[in-house]
Amino acid sequence: MSNQSGIGVAFIGSGSAAPEAVLSNEGVSRVVETSDEWIASRTGIRQRHLASPTESLKQFAAQAAQNALDMAGITAAEVDLIILATSTADDLFGSASQIQAAIGANRAVAFDLTAACSGFVFGMVTAAQYIRTGAYQNVLLIGADVLSRWVDWNDRRTCVLFGDGAGAVVMQASTAGDRLLGFELRSDGCMNDCLTLAHEAQPRELVDGIAIGRGGYQFIQMNGQEVYRFAVRKVPEVIEKALFRANLTVEQIDWLLLHQANQRILDAVAQRLTLSGEKVISNMARYGNTSAASIPIALDEAVRAGNVKLGDVIASAGFGAGLTWGAAIFQWGK
Ligand code: ACO
Repeated sequence: MSNQSGIGVAFIGSGSAAPEAVLSNEGVSRVVETSDEWIASRTGIRQRHLASPTESLKQFAAQAAQNALDMAGITAAEVDLIILATSTADDLFGSASQIQAAIGANRAVAFDLTAACSGFVFGMVTAAQYIRTGAYQNVLLIGADVLSRWVDWNDRRTCVLFGDGAGAVVMQASTAGDRLLGFELRSDGCMNDCLTLAHEAQPRELVDGIAIGRGGYQFIQMNGQEVYRFAVRKVPEVIEKALFRANLTVEQIDWLLLHQANQRILDAVAQRLTLSGEKVISNMARYGNTSAASIPIALDEAVRAGNVKLGDVIASAGFGAGLTWGAAIFQWGK
C-alpha cells in the first residue's frame, strides 16, 4: 500500500513477558466448580500466567518493550512514541508514561489506548498513522493486560478464560515500502453490554442539590455466547475487507494471528476463510486470553521460534469489548 508521503511502516522487533506464576486448569477447578476437560474442550486453554499482588502491569510491559527494542537493535532513547494498549492500567490516568520512565525512553511521548482485546490492532493502525505522516520514526507499541485483577473468581463462566501478560513490537519509518498492507477497524456500542468492566456509582450529596457518584469498577461481565457468535461472524468479514484493501487474497496469507480468546473461534474463522490449520498461530493453551497482549505475545513466540520469517504476510485480527473488532494485514520485517 503506498501513501502520499512515501514513508511506510516496518516491523523490526518483538518482545513479550508474562508473570512467573502459572495456574493450571486443575488449579482453577480448586477455585470454582469446573474441570480441565470442560475448559480445554470448550476453549483450548490449559493454563494461564497470573500476576502476584506485588507485580504490576508496568513490569511486564517494560520487560516486553525492552525485549522488542533489543531485537530491533535500537535503544530506548531512540523511541519517539510509546502506545500502550491496555484496559487494566496500574493507574487510571494511564501507565504508558510509567513504562517510558522504567525503560528510560526519555525522548518519547507516551499514552494509553483502550480498546479491550482489539487494543493491539487499533494501536498498530494508530502508530502507522504517526509514522506515515513523518511525525515519528520509531514507535514502541505495547499490548498488556492484567485481567486477573478484574475477573470474578466466583464466576466459572469467565474466570477460567483470562490470563496476564504483555507483548510489544517496534514499528519504524521506512522508505523501502510499507509493511502495513491493509486494515479495517470497527466498533458497535449498541452491543456494549455483552462484555463490560463497568464503573458503578452510588450517589453522595456534597451540598444541597449537588451530588456526585462514588463507587468502583465491577468485575468483568460477559455474555459468552453472544460474544462467540459476534466473533465468528464479524472477524472473517473484517479480515476480508482488510485483505481487499491490501489487494491480496486469502491464499497469500502466511499466518492467521487472531486474538487468542478461544480455540473454537480460531478454528471457525480459519474454516470460514478456507485457511488450513497449519497457518493458524495459537498459544492460548499456555496463556489463556491475555486481552490486548494476546496478539503480540503469540507473534513474538512465532518470530523467535523461526516460524514467522521476514516478509511473511500476517493477517491479524482483534475482537472484544466495546464491542470493537479490527484486522490488520502486515508483513514482518524491514
Ligand atoms: N466449567 C464447567 N461448566 C461451565 C463452565 C466452567 N468453567 N462455564 C460454564 N459452564 C456451564 C454453564 O453453567 C452451562 O451449564 P448449564 O447449561 O447447566 O447452565 C454450560 O456450561 C454451558 O455454558 P455456556 O456459557 O453456554 O458455555 P459456552 O459453550 O458458550 O462456552 C465460553 C462458554 C467458552 C465462554 C464461550 O461462550 C466463549 O468462548 N465465548 C467467547 C468469549 C470471548 O471470545 N471473549 C473474547 C473477548 S474477551 C475481551 O474482550 C476482554
